[in-house]
Formats: sequence, structure tokens, C-alpha cells
Amino acid sequence: MTSSKSGENSESLRPDTVAVVAGRPAREQGNALNPPVVFTSTYYSAGVPGEGLVYARVDTETWQPFEEALGLLEGAELPALVFGSGLAAIAAALSLLPVGGTVVVPRHAYQMALAYLDDGAAKYGWQVRRVDIADTAAVLAALDGSDVLLVESPTNPMLEVADLPVLLAAAKERNVITLVDNTFATPLGQQPLKYGADVVIHSVTKYLAGHSDVVLGALVTNSPQLREELKQYRSLHGAVAGPMEVWLALRGLRTLGLRLDRAQANAAELAKRLAAHPKVTQVRHPSLPNDPGHERAAAQMNGFGAIIGLRLLAGAGATTAETADAFISDLRLWVPATSLGGVESMIERRRRWPSESKTVPEDFIRLSVGIENLEDLWADLAQALDKIAG
Ligand SMILES: Cc1ncc(COP(=O)(O)O)c(C=O)c1O
Repeated sequence: MTSSKSGENSESLRPDTVAVVAGRPAREQGNALNPPVVFTSTYYSAGVPGEGLVYARVDTETWQPFEEALGLLEGAELPALVFGSGLAAIAAALSLLPVGGTVVVPRHAYQMALAYLDDGAAKYGWQVRRVDIADTAAVLAALDGSDVLLVESPTNPMLEVADLPVLLAAAKERNVITLVDNTFATPLGQQPLKYGADVVIHSVTKYLAGHSDVVLGALVTNSPQLREELKQYRSLHGAVAGPMEVWLALRGLRTLGLRLDRAQANAAELAKRLAAHPKVTQVRHPSLPNDPGHERAAAQMNGFGAIIGLRLLAGAGATTAETADAFISDLRLWVPATSLGGVESMIERRRRWPSESKTVPEDFIRLSVGIENLEDLWADLAQALDKIAG
């Protein structure tokens, strides 16, 4: 199976078109439009293994079309590398941090990435410098003497926006390896490689696959050496993806442009309405003109993403956290769940997780806005807000 090399002319195509056409079989008479999903653990191979496929922990023809498509979407010259989960991709990327090395990370970031770093601090002597990633001066100071910068922007869950061009350039000057988790923005929202990131991380589980039906991760880099190192890590540690998951992710990727357009438009309008509601004390969404991340996001992102942060007034006789829990349980359409990036709108109070950073406020609610009709989403939020006793 040769893939279409739809990349040949992809530079002239816009990213939402690339999402549709990349990674397809060649345009030849009788070829399938979609790459097949191949269920095999092993391939015929005799003699000294060469270029071809040999064993499905190392490479498969089901991974390659997805990897080609994601690489092109991130503006990379090399295909992505798919992993069994976003966290497996993070672990692989952090294998670039030496024993005893120092890493700079956002104090608010995906909690399991932070937990992984704590684990590495105990096991490999990693020094973990947690910073407010929106505070550029603080990040620059922390970069001195460090080995790796891990960035999320916008951050999970607090939606802080990092100055990617400045931070990535400063890291390069200091020979600090840069890893950017682009899960929240997606490659349609920002392309960190263009700002000099060494490795881009994705939880494919979220927007890229988009339907809350797979767990998958990926890394993208422009460096052949880094790609080889990360591929070796993948084979050696065995955190590989199943063929069905990758096939589903490529199928999901085809509609990324449509899904993201709708979800982002829904999110911007809901953020505006929530910010004007008397029961609401704080809304975080970079689309809001008074959001601390607004100007930066407008300058470096295409769109503002579809995750909203929300805090509410305390209902009578309740704490704000209790009010948040009651509000969530009064919702009928929004799904109380921990993931994000699916077609369905999801909501949770992040500190219900004991492992969430203690600097995330107890009552902070994260909304992952989906693609349902805006008015239905709003009506559900509004009726639950109305139930808060005033
Ligand atoms: C920003 C971010 N990165 C990485 C991950 C981990 O991805 P996965 O759940 O696919 O392992 C998540 C999961 O929530 C996430 O939100």
C-alpha cells in the first residue's frame, strides 16, 4: 500500500483540506479511497530485515497514513509517530530529559503529565521547575540551566496562554529541548513547529479522533534524529497503538475542521453569555476581550479553542465547590465526564480529582464545548444556573 503522497501538493492546500485528503491511497484505478485497517502482528520477512514492514510493534501500514496526515497538518517535513495514548507520547517525549536533568513545566498542566514528572523526580532525580507559563519573565528565568521545556498552551485546565514564539526562541538559544502539548489548540489552531518547537505532543484521544471512542497519542518533530530516537523508544517500551484505534482516529481527523469550527464558535458565544450571567463570577476563554490570554491567543492562534473555565457564586448555605457540583448534576444535556475534545459537550469540576494541582481553585469548572446546537447547550446551562439558590 503506497499512500497518496497527497502531501506532494499539500503546501498549497489549507489545513482543513489537508485533514480531508492526506494519507489516502494513491489515486490509481481501483484503489480504495480509504486506507485499510490491517490486523496483523507480523509480516512475511526473511533474511536481514530491511526497509519493509516486519513486526507491528515497530511499524504498520495502518499507522502510516495517520502519521503522514498528522505530520502534514503540523507543518512537519516528517510523518508523526503514533502512540498507544497521549500519556505514552508524553513519556516518550520526556525520555529526552536526562537522568538528573531539569525540566520547566506549567504549574497548571495535564495532571498526569505532572504526576509523571513527579515520578521521574523520585526515580531519575529530575528537577521539576513549575512556573506560571503565562508569565514570560518567570519562564525565561527558569530556563537558565534547564534541559527541557514542556509547554501547554492553552493550559489544561486553567487556559493560560504561553508566549510560544518568545519562549521557544529563548529555549533554542539556551539549547533547551522544547516539547509543546498541542492537544487543546489542535494543529488547525496552532503549529508549534513553526515557532521552533522540537517536538509536538498530542492526545489524539481528544479533538483529532474527536468522538470519545479511542485512546491514542502522537508526537511530531522535524528532526530526523529525534524522530528516530522517539521511534526507537516506542519500539523498546512497547506503548504502541492498535490498528482499529488508528483507523478510527484517521476517520475522525477527516472532520476536524468542521468539528472545530462549530465547537469554537459555540464556545465563544457561550463564554460571552456566561460572562454576562449574574450567577457567574469568572469565565476563562481566550476569545473574551478581557481574558488575560486574549491578545496572545489572537496573535499566535487561529481561533480560540473550545474549552471554557467557569466559576460560580456560592448558592445559599453552600460553598462554591458544592454549588459547582450541584450545578453540574442539574445539567441534562452536558455530559459529566473527564475527557474533552469529543463531539459531545462535557463538564467537570477539576478539583474533584485529588491529584489536580492545588492552585486550581476548588470550584473551577472545565467545559469542553461540543458541536451540538448552541441554543440547546445554552438552555441547559441557563436552567441549571437558575437553580442556584440566591
Ligand atoms: C493536554 C493533555 N495532554 C495529554 C493528555 C493525555 O492523553 P491520553 O488521555 O490520551 O493519554 C491529556 C488527557 O486529558 C490532556 O488533556
